[in-house]
Amino acid sequence: MKITVLFASPNKNGSTAILTDNFKRGAEENGHTVGVLDVCNMNIHPCIGCVRCGYEGPCVQKDDNAIIRHELLSSDMVVFATPLYYYGMSAQLKTVVDRFCAYNSGLNSRHLSSALLTVAWNADDWTFEALEAHYKTLVRYVRFEDKGMVLG
Ligand SMILES: Cc1cc2nc3c(=O)[nH]c(=O)nc-3n(C[C@H](O)[C@H](O)[C@H](O)COP(=O)(O)O)c2cc1C
Repeated sequence: MKITVLFASPNKNGSTAILTDNFKRGAEENGHTVGVLDVCNMNIHPCIGCVRCGYEGPCVQKDDNAIIRHELLSSDMVVFATPLYYYGMSAQLKTVVDRFCAYNSGLNSRHLSSALLTVAWNADDWTFEALEAHYKTLVRYVRFEDKGMVLG
């Protein structure tokens, strides 16, 4: 299976990177192809809400979101890899997710598998509640099939 990881930590050698590297290694050992997109170092602007895309594109903004679109629409699985920032995903990842708007229909019909890799500082049992709820709601809306979450 072709797996695309949206790696959304600004720290290339941080905890999110450790999770991502280990996920990649494990998946490749099991015969999968894994591509990691370092979204914090890509040129991706926030959605401007014009909906000129009509939820299927093209987007009026010409930036690296076209690369993400191409990769996700040719993948079997998407993995969201993010540090917990104020109890949600990083802004860099949210920016990518909002730009799903321009290929919402295509994403919906692909029925991608998905997973969440995330890390936090706090150890309260409610630390990941909001992010888990957001991820599960997103997956439900875009008709992904959740394969699991790693909450570090
Ligand atoms: C802007 C910012 C916001 C954060 N918000 C939270 C938070 O809400 N809850 C938490 O437990 N940790 C929070 N943290 C800590 C990070 O989630 C944690 O250090 C994580 O391991 C960082 O991942 P990284 O090593 O990939 O950068 C925050 C860190 C930063 C820089």
